[in-house]
Amino acid sequence: MIIGILNSGGDCPGINAVIEGYVSAAYRRGWRVIGFHDGFEGLLPVAGGRRYEMLTPYKAHKIRSQGGTILGTTNTGNFKVNINKLGRARVEPEIMAKATKTITALGLEALAVIGGNGSARTASLLSDEGLPVISIPKTINNDLCPASDYTFGFQSAVSVVSESIDRIRTTANAHQRMMVVEVMGDQSGWIALHSGISSAADVVLIPEIEFDLEKVVECVKAKKANGQREIIVIVAEGCRLNGKLVTVRNKENGDERLGGIGNRLSKMLEEMTGIETRYCVLGHTQRGGSPCPFDRILGIRFGVEAVKLIEEKQFGRTMVLNGLNVDSVPISEAIAEPRTITKESHIVRTARELGIIFGDLTPQEMAPKTPATPAKASKCSKSKK
Ligand code: F6P
Repeated sequence: MIIGILNSGGDCPGINAVIEGYVSAAYRRGWRVIGFHDGFEGLLPVAGGRRYEMLTPYKAHKIRSQGGTILGTTNTGNFKVNINKLGRARVEPEIMAKATKTITALGLEALAVIGGNGSARTASLLSDEGLPVISIPKTINNDLCPASDYTFGFQSAVSVVSESIDRIRTTANAHQRMMVVEVMGDQSGWIALHSGISSAADVVLIPEIEFDLEKVVECVKAKKANGQREIIVIVAEGCRLNGKLVTVRNKENGDERLGGIGNRLSKMLEEMTGIETRYCVLGHTQRGGSPCPFDRILGIRFGVEAVKLIEEKQFGRTMVLNGLNVDSVPISEAIAEPRTITKESHIVRTARELGIIFGDLTPQEMAPKTPATPAKASKCSKSKK
């Protein structure tokens, strides 16, 4: 039996762990694995060559600790899902036909697609064509599929942000500055919120909780008035400023992507608070480097379980982490809605209990209740000699 694997979209720590788990479990069953290069592009024929290779256990041996992906990837290319005039998602039919031809010609009995939302959509379209596809969710943003508690890559990104803020704090403290740290997350605030808690940030601004800059300023001033030297603000790239996303435009192809809110916000906060402020964009450091142990293990588990799913001929499904168990749900369910943070969630309540400022409350509303003055001991409670 020959099965395939590819990863598409932005990379994230833990992809190689998935590949290792997949190849290892497949070879134990006597199957062979083909790995496609540079995302779905690997399925397209190229003049004078091929864009895939046989992934032997030797090739995939102990790659679990390596960042990036041994297969290469792309988040541009021919497989971007467009919405046609009828409102249906589609990839150009001739591209789909070429991909289908490669899969059939190689005799693939299954194809695992490691990817984010866009890639899962393409996987879903291939599955609709009757191809034996399964999907493995991947993103540092943790914003895929409400059925999965975590995606691999997320914990590694949170570690990078937390460690960076530990460093940023010491210099901010020395200068009594405010530091605005812009983090990834697309339109979700998972990275910002988790790293904000782990690194004891003062302010965490996330897309899921609308913030009022005046309230942020008031709360920051209250902290300063209490004698705090440094102020750490984390802002998720997908937050809106005056109701608008902040983006940068790619000069070559005109594509827009999120980014720039940290710079804009730091200027505004400096002006409004009078505190000297700097900003720092952690950018792709959050996606690079070795996966943390959690992501290595989750990646391997997804890879191994994907093979089991193929063995059971359960196609058109995506892997999820449900509590402590690796499970699967239909791809259609995984792409139906993003995984976002709710205001009532335990993680938000935890942050509030720590006094983290989300910018939706005034300092008075955030202030801890003053403990009731202890009642004077009544005469009868005094110990009698
Ligand atoms: O992997 C997700 C993500 O990191 C987003 O948070 C970010 O906006 C985007 O990818 C940037 O991707 P790239 O610069 O590779 O296009």
